[in-house]
Amino acid sequence: MSFDKNLIYWYLENKRDLPWRSTKDPYQIWLSEIILQQTRVEQGKPYYFKFLKAFPTVFSLANASEEEVLKLWQGLGYYSRARNLHFTAQYIAFDLGGRFPASYSELVKLKGVGDYTAAAIASICYDEPQAAVDGNVYRVLARIFGINTPTNSSQGIKQFRNLAQDLISREDPANFNQALIEFGSEQCKPRNPLCNSCPFSTRCVAFNQNRINDLPVKLKKLKVKKRHFNYLVYISEEGKTIMQQRRGKGIWEGLYEFPLVETATEAGLEHLVEEVPAAYVTSNKKPLLFNEVPIVHKLTHQHIYTKFWILECKELPQEALSLAEVNKLPVPVLIENFIDTFDF
Ligand code: ADE
Repeated sequence: MSFDKNLIYWYLENKRDLPWRSTKDPYQIWLSEIILQQTRVEQGKPYYFKFLKAFPTVFSLANASEEEVLKLWQGLGYYSRARNLHFTAQYIAFDLGGRFPASYSELVKLKGVGDYTAAAIASICYDEPQAAVDGNVYRVLARIFGINTPTNSSQGIKQFRNLAQDLISREDPANFNQALIEFGSEQCKPRNPLCNSCPFSTRCVAFNQNRINDLPVKLKKLKVKKRHFNYLVYISEEGKTIMQQRRGKGIWEGLYEFPLVETATEAGLEHLVEEVPAAYVTSNKKPLLFNEVPIVHKLTHQHIYTKFWILECKELPQEALSLAEVNKLPVPVLIENFIDTFDF
């Protein structure tokens, strides 16, 4: 049996019943694919339902405020994806009159829609044979075809995309793409793949050469940068606090956080006292360290060591917020966890 038929056959027997698999609506497929780039299926499902409930159409998403969108996205990380989602919804709703672009070449021009997402939407919604190559697909193809080219090199990206494009079913590209992703996720898993029940085991190069754990090959990442964040949690007698919005490019753009003092190394009390802006402090109490052991927040290229410092004070300026107001703001998960733990 040809590769595509064999794969689709496996898929029809084994596929999970996932909410976005019962629609061809490009808005819903787009939403699901953007969420799934950021998280696994099980964690992604509640976000998919939440978004569809709050924004059932591209118009409702377009008409939302950026803050509402970021708030719903909270916890998924990489917030520029949420901002691009919002920007593109506005473009489709207001500039294209709600008409979703209906081909790969039109889709790939949208902000936040890369080669993978454009191919996924074009194949699933419009039956266009465009191979959607994600991490699952790299793994499956590298193993079955014994490809040693690093998947994150420009040569590798082209090679895997060309191979997937050669293999894709012309009759059923929608199921082919979903099948390849599903196969990578459920059968040809990163660790302990189910080779004994694999329909490709007789032809799989990695299996037959005992190289399952060596493929796919990936180039090593750059060194991870260590950062030290000290959050100043002001608390007034009325129980209010100060939040600031992060500006500029970089992590958590547009999200809210407590006033931040970033230090080159882990900060102690003396170090911090010098850095605390005197403006807000109307009591002479010393900042109290909430967590002795820094909370480590790991992102792809940086690890953030965080300490929360409590500063009790009599009064705070006008812009101070109550806990109820703070809870409405989009915040990084690190801050959300602190707010949930700390008894305001
Ligand atoms: N991961 C990315 N896209 C997916 C999809 N459509 N179904 C399951 N997992 C996915």
